Amino acid sequence: MTSDPAPVRILIHGASGRMGQALLRLAAERDDVVVVAAVQRSQPAQRVVDGVPHFAASELPGAPEFDVAIDFSLPEGFDPVLALCEQRGAALVSGTTGLEPEQREALDAAAQKIPLLWAANFSLGVAILGELVERAAAALPGWDCDIVESHHVHKKDAPSGTALALGACAEHGGASPRYASLRAGDIVGEHLVQFATQGERIELVHRATNRDIFARGALHAASRLPGRAPGRYRLRDLLS
Ligand SMILES: NC(=O)c1ccc[n+]([C@@H]2O[C@H](COP(=O)([O-])OP(=O)(O)OC[C@H]3O[C@@H](n4cnc5c(N)ncnc54)[C@H](OP(=O)(O)O)[C@@H]3O)[C@@H](O)[C@H]2O)c1
Repeated sequence: MTSDPAPVRILIHGASGRMGQALLRLAAERDDVVVVAAVQRSQPAQRVVDGVPHFAASELPGAPEFDVAIDFSLPEGFDPVLALCEQRGAALVSGTTGLEPEQREALDAAAQKIPLLWAANFSLGVAILGELVERAAAALPGWDCDIVESHHVHKKDAPSGTALALGACAEHGGASPRYASLRAGDIVGEHLVQFATQGERIELVHRATNRDIFARGALHAASRLPGRAPGRYRLRDLLS
């Protein structure tokens, strides 16, 4: 008789946020992961919630052992969680957007020591959209390429990390994308990539209506990353 492997121990960084709350709720529904620490910037109102110990960011160095951290916080909270993963030899899954160039370089350096995945968007639909954008850009030389992204009023960075990632796909195909950002209401996330020339245009659109898609993708990645060789992984590496 074989027993199931031990659940992957997860630290959630940014636990009180919109994404953090979705991660906590969806992790509780899975058998293959267990949340051993939930970390937020401010002091938590309750020390233990539904069996999960909660910590303030200032208490991060004393967090219990974990296999992988999932980080959906803000750029100012990113450096300490990356450093902790390196110190502990733990994996990192991060979706925090608006990182500074030095923070991106720090990710590359950390990948010499730990397995990690940073993605601007954890949805399968956006991964496919990126492929379509690159193909369209390559097939339509000389067409104008514009990316319009819309998000809720609380989102701090603009253009969104996803818009920039789609722009990189367009550039791979030979286009020179321009960006526009809208902040309105409670929009979870919409990305329109438009190719236009005289007399015609093509619009490729992705609409996220529920942030659970991002949380599911991050949990899936987190369940598969620990134990892998150090390096930077892509979402699609962990899907197969
Ligand atoms: N890659 C993707 O698929 C994807 C999808 C959605 C969102 N995102 C990104 O994920 C991030 C979080 O989004 P959200 O909507 O959940 O934001 P949010 O609701 O504002 O939550 C931010 C969280 O980060 C914590 N935090 C802020 N500063 C911190 C610090 N210095 N140290 C530690 N924790 C800190 C906050 O704690 P307090 O509550 O104590 O302030 C809160 O728990 C953003 O960068 C967003 O763009 C990425």
